[in-house]
Amino acid sequence: MGRKVKKIVIPVAGMGTRFLPATKVLPKELLPIVDRPIIQLIVEECVSAGLETIVFVTSRPKVTLEDHFDPADLASWKLQAAGKGHLIESVLELAKKIQIISIRQHVPRGLGDAVLKAEAVVGKDPFAVVLGDDIVVNHDGPSAIGQCLKTFEEKDSGSVVGILEVPKAETNKYGIVDFNSSDGRVKSFVEKPAPEKAPSNWALPGRYIFEADIFDAIRATTSGVGNEIQLTDAMAHLLKTQPFYAEKIKGVRFDTGDKLGYIMANVHFALKDEKYRDTLAHWLKNRLEVL
Ligand code: G1P
Repeated sequence: MGRKVKKIVIPVAGMGTRFLPATKVLPKELLPIVDRPIIQLIVEECVSAGLETIVFVTSRPKVTLEDHFDPADLASWKLQAAGKGHLIESVLELAKKIQIISIRQHVPRGLGDAVLKAEAVVGKDPFAVVLGDDIVVNHDGPSAIGQCLKTFEEKDSGSVVGILEVPKAETNKYGIVDFNSSDGRVKSFVEKPAPEKAPSNWALPGRYIFEADIFDAIRATTSGVGNEIQLTDAMAHLLKTQPFYAEKIKGVRFDTGDKLGYIMANVHFALKDEKYRDTLAHWLKNRLEVL
């Protein structure tokens, strides 16, 4: 009991091919949801769960992600000198709470390989992983990673994964989990199975709490789907010797790695903001009648 997690790994090395040409020079994690970049929402989720040491597994064109959280970069300095610091207040406040450590993944060998890169920082401690492609909003309670963390702290051993239901036809887009509904114990993991082969329609939305043994499991994993080292395959390997618990995440999920999911996330956050809500709702209603 009382296992504490302090570090969170956020893999951000991906090329953002699904958003080209927008991501030709701009990291996909800096695309905005209304006025906050996706990475800021993800870091806010981590901080709300008390995870303040953040490990970015990054790649060469992604240095601007670190700059976004730098309270002393040129943009921050100029805005504050001009008395406009309030415009970046949300990120300045966040920056006071976090420490960012960056490690590079030089060759894009897959999510499993990216997580393995974090071993140099994480060592033997349990740690969290959050993937930036999925934004999960729980306006009335703990964040998605916070929910996983609570379950992890209640267990004596093993790892915890967040799960969410997806339409059966979409199992080939996600890691899929089969589990005992009585105690949440995971029975199997499979990466992107075809709908007819999927053991369930419960998917991994990129919220994990791992024992450090996952690193050895990744090392023992060979290339899988897409010829990449898959994190889900390493989890399936570790499952042979350690329990995993599936945590049904409460909240609304947006796949912001997908164009439609990204647009929906923007509409959701704008409708949640009273500055935009009425005007946007009215406009949407009119457009739906016209189109
Ligand atoms: C990755 C994981 C997959 C998970 C998904 C969540 O896939 O491999 O198991 O369900 O993230 O977004 P990717 O979206 O990188 O193909």
